[in-house]
Amino acid sequence: MMKAIVSDSYGNHQNLKLTNDHPLPYTNINEMPKNKPLLIQTLAVALAPGDARVLSGTCKMFNGPPSFPYVPGGDVCGIVEHIDTNQVKDDSELGYQVGDRIAARFTEGPRGALGEYATISTSMATKVPDNVSAEDAAVLASSGSIAYQLSKRFTDVNERVLIVGAGGGVGSHLCQFLKLKGYTFIAGVSKDPKRLLKQPISCNVALDYTQNDPYNLENWKKQHISEPFDTIVDLAGGGWICLLEQSENQDGLQIIKTAKEGGRYLTLTYDEALFSVDSIGYALNLFLFIPLFRAMVSRCVQRSKMPRYTFAMSLDDDVDLLKDTLKLASEGKIVACKDDRGPFEFTTEGAQEAFKIQESRHVRGKVVIKGPSNMEK
Ligand SMILES: NC(=O)c1ccc[n+]([C@@H]2O[C@H](COP(=O)([O-])OP(=O)(O)OC[C@H]3O[C@@H](n4cnc5c(N)ncnc54)[C@H](OP(=O)(O)O)[C@@H]3O)[C@@H](O)[C@H]2O)c1
Repeated sequence: MMKAIVSDSYGNHQNLKLTNDHPLPYTNINEMPKNKPLLIQTLAVALAPGDARVLSGTCKMFNGPPSFPYVPGGDVCGIVEHIDTNQVKDDSELGYQVGDRIAARFTEGPRGALGEYATISTSMATKVPDNVSAEDAAVLASSGSIAYQLSKRFTDVNERVLIVGAGGGVGSHLCQFLKLKGYTFIAGVSKDPKRLLKQPISCNVALDYTQNDPYNLENWKKQHISEPFDTIVDLAGGGWICLLEQSENQDGLQIIKTAKEGGRYLTLTYDEALFSVDSIGYALNLFLFIPLFRAMVSRCVQRSKMPRYTFAMSLDDDVDLLKDTLKLASEGKIVACKDDRGPFEFTTEGAQEAFKIQESRHVRGKVVIKGPSNMEK
């Protein structure tokens, strides 16, 4: 048995509780769960929108835990306790061994990390450099590496980029990766725009969306921006609908260049950030048909009216993305953005408070919960 944060049913942060007698994540140490040959002692867990979504049950058809009580959390840093040699024939190729600290991103849905022990896959796990803290490593395991992956779609440093959701988990790291690449003009959107202007996010300009519509160029003119942006990265959802409406107006699209002029719109989200999926047909529409339709139409019949649409949905299981991200952090080139209200304790109250912030969609970077063995630190 082990300590774990668990939920007995779908719901919200109030369902979470600490238990001292949750079953260990394996039944036989020499026969770890399939595709999860690493046993780690958890040091820190960073939350993501998917963690709140799994708990809510709105996407249970695809993301739901196989049974209750379940242990939430997917992005983790921990100490390797055991490696199942039945599954890993040559552990010298892993680059880490028992006793090392590793960071890992979930691979089969965000679950299982908020326990004293967790079993994980080797496919998205790597050794953490000594000078990177466990909390920072958990933060960078997913949002950092996703932002790094997204930044690879940026090759022209002269682009003027607008990031909606620049202060969240992905945005706060994407801004840093773009600056590191040499991008000189990044505009950000947040209800706390002052935070975006400070290090490490360091946007050039920032707008408060609770006061001003960020898709209306008039609102940027107050900040001396009168040219349309080259690229919009929408991490909050709904931007494409705003652009479609604008393109139908008398003056046409103002905030961003059209595809013909080189404009592009990248998103990781659906039109509604908080969505529910209850049928395969609906899921196919959301994940496949609508993004494909928009991508195609915006590149041909609408190319003089709309920017190129790209739904950057997939998370590459490329561990090098994670290795490089952690290396950049260890060299001081990027900073893991942790919500300053945490890290939260591995207690019922700590987990509930952390999930409450995640559910609010107003995380300042990433929310982190300490693992039980890390509590005294
Ligand atoms: N498809 C994939 O592979 C993949 C991978 C990772 C993430 N995602 C998705 O990408 C999105 C961003 O992820 P994340 O981890 O960065 O999320 P996050 O940490 O929850 O950040 C959400 C951001 O949205 C902003 N926001 C909330 N309401 C808003 C509104 N009404 N108008 C404008 N901005 C608003 C918040 O801004 P404030 O600064 O004002 O709080 C915050 O910065 C999520 O939908 C997530 O599910 C997808």
